[in-house]
Amino acid sequence: MNKLIIIAAAIVLLSGCQYLHIVPDPIPADVSFSTDVTPIFTANCIGCHTTGAQVPDLTASHAYASLTGLNLVNTTTPANSILYIKISTGQMPPGGSLTQTQIGTILRWIEQGAKNN
Ligand code: HEC
Repeated sequence: MNKLIIIAAAIVLLSGCQYLHIVPDPIPADVSFSTDVTPIFTANCIGCHTTGAQVPDLTASHAYASLTGLNLVNTTTPANSILYIKISTGQMPPGGSLTQTQIGTILRWIEQGAKNN
């Protein structure tokens, strides 16, 4: 009988351990512009920011040159980047539909030097 109680207690304790796992950071540790950032633009921005339309041109092949050429990213003070201000205040896309993870991914990309990686 005691053995059963010990086994039952062990099962409860061991299965409880899953709650001790740290929730993984949904934002990539090393953000890649091509893998992590441009898909956000493709899904949310290029309806307006396509080649020849509203600047910046956020199509995958032009986004990097357009963002850096128009000084929309500030690697010295990332949170002051016009790109970041527009998305974090809900101005872009109009109505503000990006998730906190998407906004955080773009901010981390700028913090990591806004590389064309
Ligand atoms: C429905 C159309 C539309 C969508 C979708 C849209 N934008 Fe815009 N965007 C505009 C317009 C129009 C402007 C210019 C007016 C303004 O700055 O508010 C603009 C301006 C901007 C600017 C400022 C450019 C500058 O030179 O100051 C940035 C940065 C920007 N958008 C980023 C984005 C990003 C990133 C997305 C997607 C997450 C996005 N936009 C989605 C219409 C759109």
